[in-house]
Amino acid sequence: MTRRCFVIGHPIAHSRSPLIHGTWLADHGLDGSYERIDVAPADLPAFITRLRAGEFVGGNVTVPHKQAAEALIDEVSEAARAIGAVNTLWREGGRLCGDNTDAAGFLGHLDATTPGWLDHVRTALVIGAGGAARAVVYALKSRGLDRIAVVNRNPARAAELVAAFGAPLQAMDWSARSALVGEADLIVNTTSLGMKGQPPLGLDLATLRPGTIVDDIVYVPLKTDLLVEAERRGAIAVDGLGMLLHQAVPGFARWFGVVPEVTPALRARLEVDIVGA
Ligand SMILES: NC(=O)c1ccc[n+]([C@@H]2O[C@H](COP(=O)([O-])OP(=O)(O)OC[C@H]3O[C@@H](n4cnc5c(N)ncnc54)[C@H](OP(=O)(O)O)[C@@H]3O)[C@@H](O)[C@H]2O)c1
Repeated sequence: MTRRCFVIGHPIAHSRSPLIHGTWLADHGLDGSYERIDVAPADLPAFITRLRAGEFVGGNVTVPHKQAAEALIDEVSEAARAIGAVNTLWREGGRLCGDNTDAAGFLGHLDATTPGWLDHVRTALVIGAGGAARAVVYALKSRGLDRIAVVNRNPARAAELVAAFGAPLQAMDWSARSALVGEADLIVNTTSLGMKGQPPLGLDLATLRPGTIVDDIVYVPLKTDLLVEAERRGAIAVDGLGMLLHQAVPGFARWFGVVPEVTPALRARLEVDIVGA
């Protein structure tokens, strides 16, 4: 029987997940589907009931359902609980389970493209304190860094994030972000700044040390101004598209029983889609 999966959100037309999972389904010749379904917030409980009843094997959850879905399922992974949102659902022995795969995606891409990065990263600067920042600090904390400085335009949100995750996170002032660049071995932009249609990030890289890793999780455009300037100054640039691809791996593995690969061909398909958007 065809294993049906979904991505639900509202709106959902922009999601690139069907392209990723559709490519893997075709590559592995699996009898499965992955559908984009628009679910309004008021209809989420009814959709979850359909999932429980067996219409789907699982799927992805995106904005605005990532927090609400957590309250409607039976088991929440440690990562999802800490991050405060689920993005991947599946059924297991009559129970509905949820995980957040953004942290695994962030680390999966970093590990794949910058092997050994942890050998020379002790201090990180994380810019932003929204949902994606929670996944990034959860990921970095799991790798045992000495210091993770967090800056955010809204200081209360940075303070809340640091209070939730504890040491080695430290909330720093938004105005100090450029001054912190020279101390960081890894800089991660988790804000939407620098994204197509958004204002620039405007981080001053004057004190950036060559060899610093600069990771921008924004993936439209594929190479943000931050990454272009970081590379010009001898930094190692890590883009956001890889995180998007790697975060999809655990879900596909659960639904279809095959661990898919993030290949250059898959990446190229997504690049075409993003450039053409
Ligand atoms: N590559 C991937 O797989 C991946 C995964 C998840 C997210 N993302 C990307 O990450 C970005 C953030 O997503 P999110 O879910 O964390 O969103 P979010 O929860 O809405 O957080 C947005 C963040 O951006 C900051 N921000 C927005 N406008 C700003 C401005 N004008 N000046 C200063 N800071 C500003 C916010 O600061 P305030 O708190 O002060 O508002 C907050 O820190 C998006 O571009 C998203 O596409 C990528």
